[in-house]
Amino acid sequence: MATQRIDKLLASTGRWSRQEAKALIKAGRVLVDGIPAGRGEQKADPSVSRILVDGADLGWQAHTYVMLNKPAGVLTATEDQRQKTVLDLLPEDLRRRGLFPVGRLDKDTEGLLLLTDDGELAHRLLSPKKHVDKVYYARLDQPLAPADCAAFAEGVVLADGARCRPALLQLLGDGREALITLWEGKFHQVKRMTASRGAAVVYLKRLSMGPLALDKALTPGSFRYLTAEEVAKIGGIP
Ligand code: URA
Repeated sequence: MATQRIDKLLASTGRWSRQEAKALIKAGRVLVDGIPAGRGEQKADPSVSRILVDGADLGWQAHTYVMLNKPAGVLTATEDQRQKTVLDLLPEDLRRRGLFPVGRLDKDTEGLLLLTDDGELAHRLLSPKKHVDKVYYARLDQPLAPADCAAFAEGVVLADGARCRPALLQLLGDGREALITLWEGKFHQVKRMTASRGAAVVYLKRLSMGPLALDKALTPGSFRYLTAEEVAKIGGIP
């Protein structure tokens, strides 16, 4: 990890604004390896130096990873002039960290959404070459049948002629509910795939993305940090 300005470092935790960080430093409340930081411009490497604020370890982490149970009615975006976004569901200190959603869920789709400031990880998880699986639970207005499972396995052709990669359709109950596993991410893909088989999605929820599963304890709209184990599983940097 390279050295960084101390005020920037403090601000990157999301706990203080740059101005607040500068004020803490000026007041002598920030120690770098036991020595009060002189000015905001002073640099330090947080992976090497011990940085204390009011005696408490900065607890610096290279990246932040948050699991959100996205509720319906919220946009997967970092900001919007008129509509509520997934970032609006996070507290101020997290919003300041520059988190962004990894992939997109439609406004009316619920479920697992990973937010991070780790661009490399996001790229890896979304890259079509990496074949990361995404599992959705869908409720449909019409039942699907075993013939539709075979069509999904072969690769559904959408209304616009685009061919999907083979996908897994697992019917539940009478076929009006299903688990759908995709290894790619086209726009409105689940909805367009079921529509091509004559059934409209009436409810959609993402349950997992690669090795990361939605925590059942998270109610729609709530979030938690990934555990160290989860970060390791998805290949992040704690
Ligand atoms: N497929 C969809 O149709 N919508 C989503 O939000 C995700 C996958």
